[in-house]
Amino acid sequence: MIKVMTVFGTRPEAIKMAPVILELDRHSEFESIVAVTAQHREMLDQVLRLFDIRPDFDLDIMSADQTLFDITTKALTGLDRVLTAAQPDIVLVHGDTTTTFVGALAAFYHQIAVGHVEAGLRTLNKYSPFPEEMNRRLTGALADLNFAPTATARENLLREGVAREKIFVTGNTVIDALHRTVRSDFVFEDALLKAIDYRRKKIILVTTHRRENLGEPMRNVYEALKQIAEEFSDVEIIFPVHKNPKVREIVDAVLGGLAQVHLIDPLDYEPFANLMSRAEIILTDSGGVQEEAPALGKPVLVLRDTTERPEAVGAGTVKLIGTDRSRVYDETRRLLIDRTEYDRMASAVNPYGDGRAAQRIVRALLRHYRLTDAPFEEFQS
Ligand code: UD1
Ligand code: UDP
Repeated sequence: MIKVMTVFGTRPEAIKMAPVILELDRHSEFESIVAVTAQHREMLDQVLRLFDIRPDFDLDIMSADQTLFDITTKALTGLDRVLTAAQPDIVLVHGDTTTTFVGALAAFYHQIAVGHVEAGLRTLNKYSPFPEEMNRRLTGALADLNFAPTATARENLLREGVAREKIFVTGNTVIDALHRTVRSDFVFEDALLKAIDYRRKKIILVTTHRRENLGEPMRNVYEALKQIAEEFSDVEIIFPVHKNPKVREIVDAVLGGLAQVHLIDPLDYEPFANLMSRAEIILTDSGGVQEEAPALGKPVLVLRDTTERPEAVGAGTVKLIGTDRSRVYDETRRLLIDRTEYDRMASAVNPYGDGRAAQRIVRALLRHYRLTDAPFEEFQS
């Protein structure tokens, strides 16, 4: 059996790696070993519960107000021990977090092959998003197999000199996870979410967490949202606030105590995905949400100056608006009052996947280890 170790640590990595782990479990050719750094704790554990994943190794590294140095050093020494104990044939990492980069580095130090899931996303701006752009480039430099979600991501890798035969266009596993999770008859357990009249109210769903948005940029966004809430009585702003205390402090200071603004804890993935499907507009600086919302036909205003996910911007469902207060206010207001503009942005598109990305990744692994002759059929958007 080929030993495949998945290494991840944060909420989005867990959501996007879960379909791969479930697919590996369906193949007796592979022994699936799961190692989590737990760079996130509660936000990671809710995903593990939902997909019924029990890690074989848990480094439990998270600390309050952790720095990049804390995460990097703790994960690297912890993974050294894990790799020594488990001796996998290949390590799979996902995306662009510090766990991702360190997982690839630790595997390289042990001369173990690296597979990079969600490879090839680029802004080409070293500091935006920070530190994710460098995390994914450094991971790319260490990767032996690159699972690129889209043709654009493959082009980025080819431009950097990655050999074509090492790149597999698979679609993004986030769409696999979404397909398993969103249901039209979903009933919220949470009393607030259950009580909302989704036909009468316009739900604006908000998430923010990017390190480069901490401080003034976030404050500007929240000021704009406050103005929107004051102006539109049919709007309910639902804001599951990231656990980072640096985010919470600013959110509470600007938006605390407003009747139409619901500041809640991060939602578990299942209610969150189902809430996205009932929202009117989504404002976010998240990467994953930029991929999910277009598949649900929801307009997304991205609170960033750059994006490594240009496909949905091209399709018109996502708009990059930055964090300037008046721009955030104007763009949100426009979607609330201009039906034509709203409808233009609200058509469902699927540039990121068709729900079969994990199958393609596992097929590519089977082929890599010469365990199948079945052809690899790449994702076509
Ligand atoms: C991290 C990733 C980012 C990813 C994001 C997804 C890095 C450097 N950043 O950013 O790429 O987009 O996760 O959400 O890899 N906390 C808790 N409980 C949790 C999770 C976080 O209390 O379950 C708090 C802790 O105080 C922690 C802080 O949030 O110190 C920040 O977490 P961290 O992983 O460093 O940064 P994120 O902004 O979450
Ligand atoms: N998400 C969630 N609960 C929330 C907010 C987001 O489950 O309260 C999910 C969301 O559906 C997406 C992922 O978390 O799949 C995105 O994570 P995040 O925005 O933290 O990170 P990023 O994608 O920016 O790396």
